[in-house]
Amino acid sequence: MLPEYNSRSAADRTSDNRMKTEHVYPVPSDIATSARITDEIYREMYDRSIRDPEGFWAELAQEFISWNTPWQRVARWNFHTPSIEWFSGARLNVSYNCLDRHLADRRDQTAILWEGDEPGDQRALTYGELHDRVCRFANVLKSHGVGKGDRVCIYLPMIPEAAVAMLACARIGAIHSIVFGGFSSEALKDRILDADCRVLICADEGRRGGKFVPLKRNVDAALSQCPHVETVLVVRHTGRPVDWTAGRDHWFHEAVQSASADCPPEDMDAEDPLFILYTSGSTGKPKGVVHTTGGYLLFAAVTHKYVFDYRDGEVYWCTADIGWITGHSYVVFGPLCNGATTLMFEGVPTYPTPARLWQIIDKYQVSIFYTAPTVIRALMGLGADWVKQADRHSLRILGSVGEPINPEAWEWYYQEVGEKRCPVLDTWWQTETGGIMITPLPGATPLKPGSATRPFFGVVPVILDPQGNELTGPAEGVLAIAASWPGQARTVFRNHDRFRETYFALYPGKYFTGDGARRDADGYYWITGRVDDVINVSGHRMGTAEIESALVLHDSVAEAAVVGYPHNIKGQGIYAYVTLVADAVPSEDLKRQLIELVREEIGAIATPDIIQWTPALPKTRSGKIMRRILRKIAANELDQLGDTSTLADPAVVEDIIRNKPA
Ligand code: WTA
Repeated sequence: MLPEYNSRSAADRTSDNRMKTEHVYPVPSDIATSARITDEIYREMYDRSIRDPEGFWAELAQEFISWNTPWQRVARWNFHTPSIEWFSGARLNVSYNCLDRHLADRRDQTAILWEGDEPGDQRALTYGELHDRVCRFANVLKSHGVGKGDRVCIYLPMIPEAAVAMLACARIGAIHSIVFGGFSSEALKDRILDADCRVLICADEGRRGGKFVPLKRNVDAALSQCPHVETVLVVRHTGRPVDWTAGRDHWFHEAVQSASADCPPEDMDAEDPLFILYTSGSTGKPKGVVHTTGGYLLFAAVTHKYVFDYRDGEVYWCTADIGWITGHSYVVFGPLCNGATTLMFEGVPTYPTPARLWQIIDKYQVSIFYTAPTVIRALMGLGADWVKQADRHSLRILGSVGEPINPEAWEWYYQEVGEKRCPVLDTWWQTETGGIMITPLPGATPLKPGSATRPFFGVVPVILDPQGNELTGPAEGVLAIAASWPGQARTVFRNHDRFRETYFALYPGKYFTGDGARRDADGYYWITGRVDDVINVSGHRMGTAEIESALVLHDSVAEAAVVGYPHNIKGQGIYAYVTLVADAVPSEDLKRQLIELVREEIGAIATPDIIQWTPALPKTRSGKIMRRILRKIAANELDQLGDTSTLADPAVVEDIIRNKPA
């Protein structure tokens, strides 16, 4: 099935705005004078990375990573099978690279700064302390029978123990699967079962914006259906009482205290799995994307250093949750591999006031700040006075990730937050890419608000027409990647067929991203949004099919179709068209029940913004729901419904338009 990429999503309209307002900002002068990678160097390095990828990545692999054993071959891949290997045969350990090798120079340097939800709640761990905690916790995992290749589920808030748990798994060769703390017990259960985890790490509760998140309670509910989980290690975080299953549940702090601090790192193959991370696609249940050890770490570290121009001693802050890929690559693995000081923040941007982020920047003298457009839009809506409560002098670089950033939000970020001193890096990438793929480099790239600009080293983006022909020059179409890069996902956990079908079947020989893009006359890329049934709500990636599956669980629901629609702050909102069974009566109470059901099945992030009752859904004569039309109606683009001649019953569409909620 070909994606309907000619349909105009919210992001498409944003890209039209961009064309009207296109403005080029040169590299800010302070950044230009100290640039390590200038435009000229970028072009040279990029050319070399494409001409001689193996030589290019081999040099960086020597520079960025400590290997126990060298590789036989840098890269071996084909996108048909698909089979992807980088540095296979080489041996290394990720926790050694993120910790041990830094101890000689950085034992007393802060590795992790932690700022809690409540101002004043704070902690810091040096590289020496982090190493100690990781070794002890790795021994705890071992004592519970966890070994190389075993899967460990992590369901934690944004606290340093999350990084400890990740690195402890890596130390002993266990594969972690982090489940975002905002997911419900049902979603947690599905992920535990799919990855067949036997051990789970959680906290009593999380805290966000003054509220408590009942993590342990969700775990208890999930585990009633996961008979194989034998051990739960519980971090005492809020300290409030939780239910306890004797024999299964153990306090993290007690276990760590009595464990030995001596734990030699496991010698891993570069292609051994490092972690599984579930992500949504257009169909079915979320997929367990598998990242491996050597290539992933290299790509995370190299992108972290070059994209953010990280310099020794700087405080770097990425606001992403560790439950998402951004938290994996740019809160933990990339920065720690580079010996950086990485800040973790548990709370939300508006608690206790909308000045919080800027106050944290002043408090820790943050140089590099990386966040999501939804955060910027939300704060922009509250006015620049909050920003001015902090002086932000320490800031040098600003980053954005997760969804298209509209030019208005980009300008506000650039002008108000960065006071025109700091380049705004709009970084495009995905869970599957492991690290940043299309991005400006601070000292090299003139910026255009709303454009992710140019490919990172070694990345070969191509724009395809619906038939899969590669378009040259300025063009708009589907974004694919023509050659492998070290951080690329290798498979879907225990489902390589799904990996092939999802990413490599539609356009043979290329990696299909699921996004649309435009390339302008300067060779800059403008991401126009998803071309499949994936939506992006506040930077959270969700499959509309998952939300539909939750809705139809209700006895009163016959059928449901979910689409995204433009939303000022969230980027996209969730619009659900619901058809009830014959004897069911639409009501506000039923709406509430449906919303509750979605929250139970997936989590609050999937809550529909709008539910419209409809006696039927628009279908083709062969019975396929015409989502394109539903998207247009949701976006209020009634003049652009397009070809409706294949509809089985055009009256259905008229009815939906007539009854659309205001
Ligand atoms: C979207 C997050 C436009 C895109 C790292 C992609 C973006 C999906 C950008 C991946 C950006 C991410 N501009 N769109 N700078 N960054 N996206 O897997 O649709 O959570 O396919 O990875 O987010 O989301 P994921």
